[in-house]
Amino acid sequence: MQFIIHFDTKNDLHHTAIAFLRGCGIFCGYSDSVSIFMSDNLEDSLISLFDRHVSRKGTDSTKLDLCDQMLHGKDLTPAWVADGDFPCPNEVVNEMRKTADQSIYGYTYLSTAFYQSIVNWYQQEHSLTIDHNNIITSNGVVNALALLINTFSKEGDGVIVQSPVYYPFFQLVKENNRVVLDNPLREENGHYSIDFDHFESLARSGAKLFILCSPHNPIGKVWEKEELKKLVDICKTYNIMMISDEIHSDLIYSPSVFNSTLPFSDDYNNLIVLNSAAKTFNIAGLFTSYGVTYNKEIKQRYESTANKWGMHNNLFGIRATMAAYRSKDYLIALRSYLKGNIDLIDAMIKASNKPIGFVRPEATYLAWLDFRGLNLSETKLKAKIHGQAKIGITPGVGFGKKGAGFYRMNFATPRDNLADIMSRLLAVF
Ligand SMILES: Cc1ncc(COP(=O)(O)O)c(C=O)c1O
Repeated sequence: MQFIIHFDTKNDLHHTAIAFLRGCGIFCGYSDSVSIFMSDNLEDSLISLFDRHVSRKGTDSTKLDLCDQMLHGKDLTPAWVADGDFPCPNEVVNEMRKTADQSIYGYTYLSTAFYQSIVNWYQQEHSLTIDHNNIITSNGVVNALALLINTFSKEGDGVIVQSPVYYPFFQLVKENNRVVLDNPLREENGHYSIDFDHFESLARSGAKLFILCSPHNPIGKVWEKEELKKLVDICKTYNIMMISDEIHSDLIYSPSVFNSTLPFSDDYNNLIVLNSAAKTFNIAGLFTSYGVTYNKEIKQRYESTANKWGMHNNLFGIRATMAAYRSKDYLIALRSYLKGNIDLIDAMIKASNKPIGFVRPEATYLAWLDFRGLNLSETKLKAKIHGQAKIGITPGVGFGKKGAGFYRMNFATPRDNLADIMSRLLAVF
């Protein structure tokens, strides 16, 4: 039996209530807003779903099976690629089973119901009203980025990115023979902010596109409305197309609140937002994503390139996305679980008294760990983390020069695995 109680109360009380209910032998989890999930059946509980160990080893999983090779290590425990270790929502798994049972996997079109699931999600999660006609689709957000770069700039054009950032941003720009115009984020004690003056100087130099990461991978930052407005204003002044990658926008931890760039279209509509259910619901291998723009010309030119490139839809990806967007309970429980993981990282680092910096992420399931206080070279740091601790986390330099001394750790993993990773990591310093 499972039921949900809605509490109109503050977080501290949530914790107390949870502790009390757990003390009574009732398994429960809590959302970061108002819902408390309770279950008298541990197996059925959404929270216990995240404690479950599901091995993908030997399934050609990039995260599991390529970790040693990609990070040049041996027997590493993978916490690198941004895939969660959690099972998908039951709704998604059942939909995949049903689809597999069809036994024929032919071409599938994007139905009204597919578009409507995105429209509903935006209304429900972001209080934004969009229309079917505002939506474009792609085979992954990176695919959409590549398509947009090709359609809306030409070789030699400048594209602004803000490092440290998800590395395909600058990789795609370079591989398409455009020029990376980096506006490095300012950092102080692990807290990041935007250098607007430098951003404007890059804009003035003739940049054509700006790729924003919002929330920002790898630093886990949620951009404030005021910051977004300043960026939009500068893009408007210099007529720079703004691409806002919002793939992590569902995974926000209270008290932070996500601000989409989309509403700024009212003021400047040379703008597109990219998103998908892939990160939140762990369906990244199905490569189904979408974008939202109120600009008809952007949509039309995007679709023209998509046709030129012969892009198609993925039957499983379509069904999984629709099922994911029916899985709000899962999302509430997931946020709560991940917040608990952040607490664990924070507590273990503090208790260790090691000079390792950790600023709690406001979003994403990525921790940006700061090892600069240890004064170790990149080589020595790697020898400790990959060589000695055997933890497969990503060196920060991969996200831009300013990432030196940092490592990015994916903490979307069962709590006991995370505790093991953290204790092995801390033990080598
Ligand atoms: C900011 C950002 N954008 C895009 C992606 C990848 O999206 P996709 O797999 O849909 O191409 C990731 C994956 O980690 C990401 O962090």
